Amino acid sequence: MKVLGIETSCDETSVAIVDHRGTILTNLVRTQFEEHKKFMGVVPEIAARAHIDVLPDMIRQALEETHLTFKDFYGIAVTAGPGLIGGLSVGVMMAKAIASTHDKPFLAVNHLVAHALTTRLTHQTPFPYLVLLVSGGHCQLLIARDVDDFELLGQTIDDAVGEAFDKTAKLLGYGYPGGPQIEEKAKTGDPTRFAFPRPLITHPRYGFNFSFSGLKTAVRETIYRLNPLSQCDISDICASFQQAVADIFTKRADQALKYCQANAIPVKHFVIAGGVASNHYIREALIGVAGKNQVEFVAPPVKLCTDNAAMVAWAGLEKLKKGHIDDLSVAPRPRWPLPSRKGRKCLK
Ligand code: KG4
Ligand code: ZN
Repeated sequence: MKVLGIETSCDETSVAIVDHRGTILTNLVRTQFEEHKKFMGVVPEIAARAHIDVLPDMIRQALEETHLTFKDFYGIAVTAGPGLIGGLSVGVMMAKAIASTHDKPFLAVNHLVAHALTTRLTHQTPFPYLVLLVSGGHCQLLIARDVDDFELLGQTIDDAVGEAFDKTAKLLGYGYPGGPQIEEKAKTGDPTRFAFPRPLITHPRYGFNFSFSGLKTAVRETIYRLNPLSQCDISDICASFQQAVADIFTKRADQALKYCQANAIPVKHFVIAGGVASNHYIREALIGVAGKNQVEFVAPPVKLCTDNAAMVAWAGLEKLKKGHIDDLSVAPRPRWPLPSRKGRKCLK
């Protein structure tokens, strides 16, 4: 059972073919870093045009590499949201065209669900599990109970964590995406030199929520105060910033795992997903908290943490296995919260 996956929600064009056993036959990813570099961030109009330019050829390449034709697919899966509407429309229209021409099931995939289910593609993680979903647009702590049932424990009340990485990098003069550059610089820095704030983590009334705007402001003020920065200052700022993020995640994960235990939710795995999950320092910090709470820590390989179509094809397969097929009238959605079964209480 092979599914073709298409991802165009932000600045990566990706095409993948995955089968029901979790074999990734191909996963082509083309980043648009060069197109957006001089703007120090993603420009939606440029992103949409770049997807149009490369998507048909990438699909052709995926078919050639795998010696498959459209007839061989059980379904065509595409990210239908959340994301930038121009890019989403490019992918969704392409997927609909293929699905209708070849009479295949059309599978509209929620990008957040695709990130959250990647662990089932790579590690066959059973439900329920705790997921920290950390990307350029989101920061959420969830209990994944089923393919279509996610309990939101907490989320950011301001910036996404990837955005905080990107803005810090921009202040230091680095291009987009900032996360990998901060991680690299932090390797030689002192994580204790700057006591950046860990917003909300000592306030019980914020529950499982996150906030990164205060941290970002503190970093900006430090940069302005020290200017001009030496290489050592830059490394120390990156290391101290990354440490603050790791501490925030560790605290919230510990709290959430204890919440699961106290409420007899049989969570045995703690999963990190999304672009920020590529960060090795943060992964290391979270292994400890998982061990302390007697659950297994799971992190997908780095190339499946950042945006890719293999996760989209897999999420499509999970839908197909449940018999969930979408109508061709489904429209792309710039905002699309994670699905939750009716009646499930979401903690605030
Ligand atoms: O999941 P993703 O590829 O796209 C979204 O769905 O947003 O995440 C992109 C984000 C960017 O903000 C990028 O800076 C961040 O993930 N990121 C990282 C690392 N690699 C990518 N953040 C921290 N450390 C990294 N190594
Ligand atoms: Zn993403």
